[in-house]
Amino acid sequence: MARHLDLATRDALLARVRFYRDLGLTEFYRRPVDRVLLAQLEGEPDPLSEQPEDPRAPSFPLFSAERVGDHAASQSDSSQPVQAQEDHPTPPRKPLPSPPQIGAAVAPADRAAALQLIRDEIGDCTRCPLHKGRNKLVFGDGSPAARLMFVGEGPGADEDAQGIPFVGRAGQLLNNMIAAMGLKREEVYIANIVKCRPPGNRTPEPAEGNTCSPFLFRQIDVIRPQVLVALGATAATYLLGARQPLAGLRGRVHAFRGMQLIVTYHPAYLLRDPRQKKEAWADLQIAMRELGLKPPSRE
Ligand code: URA
Repeated sequence: MARHLDLATRDALLARVRFYRDLGLTEFYRRPVDRVLLAQLEGEPDPLSEQPEDPRAPSFPLFSAERVGDHAASQSDSSQPVQAQEDHPTPPRKPLPSPPQIGAAVAPADRAAALQLIRDEIGDCTRCPLHKGRNKLVFGDGSPAARLMFVGEGPGADEDAQGIPFVGRAGQLLNNMIAAMGLKREEVYIANIVKCRPPGNRTPEPAEGNTCSPFLFRQIDVIRPQVLVALGATAATYLLGARQPLAGLRGRVHAFRGMQLIVTYHPAYLLRDPRQKKEAWADLQIAMRELGLKPPSRE
């Protein structure tokens, strides 16, 4: 039996389902509410009227799927949480879980546990083919209370061996970039679009990035850094939800889920072309300005 949703809520939620379906995110349909929405979309009977609640469904709202358009609406970041219309004559029989709200924060003291819940949910992941070549899954590293977060592309050989992001040569350069900003690596948080090493360090395939990146978005929503730095085109593409030339994205602040996003070169690219380090430093200075940081004195 179809459930009664007001039209605005229904359309917004169906847009969310379609958005994730277009991205190829099949995991999205595991949650009971999503099966209901999919059934509505397909004109099928309400599966919740016959089945009990899925005990694996996330109970913590911040771990549920993104709000409508969050992934793609980063340029304006203007969408508001989907609200039920109060004057609808037939309220839903069961309350729908609220989409996560921009600005809804996990208390700093709870963030490590919240991140661990995400790690537990990922488990011994086989959701995409990258697991086949994995030694260690690389979840993320750093402070759950970080004000600054870096997002790279995917683990390389060193990261795959150690289970920690950015520990190889590119990681050494990233450490130097962080130090130049007057910060310690332990004060920031570092993660990647995909958590398992792509073979030969190739760029993740869309199905791999689209399967894995929702976990990164949950990590971001828990940490809620003031500033995110996308390292390279792959990180920028998945965070901004659109592929654009890096040149057009650098040098400015993008709105991202209520946070500030800055795009710069990937450290591996800077190792290949050190002349671009000056440009990367200019990007990092934008991040520093937003964070109110001054470069350490060179005395
Ligand atoms: N390159 C990345 O994008 N991420 C890492 O963790 C290491 C290298």
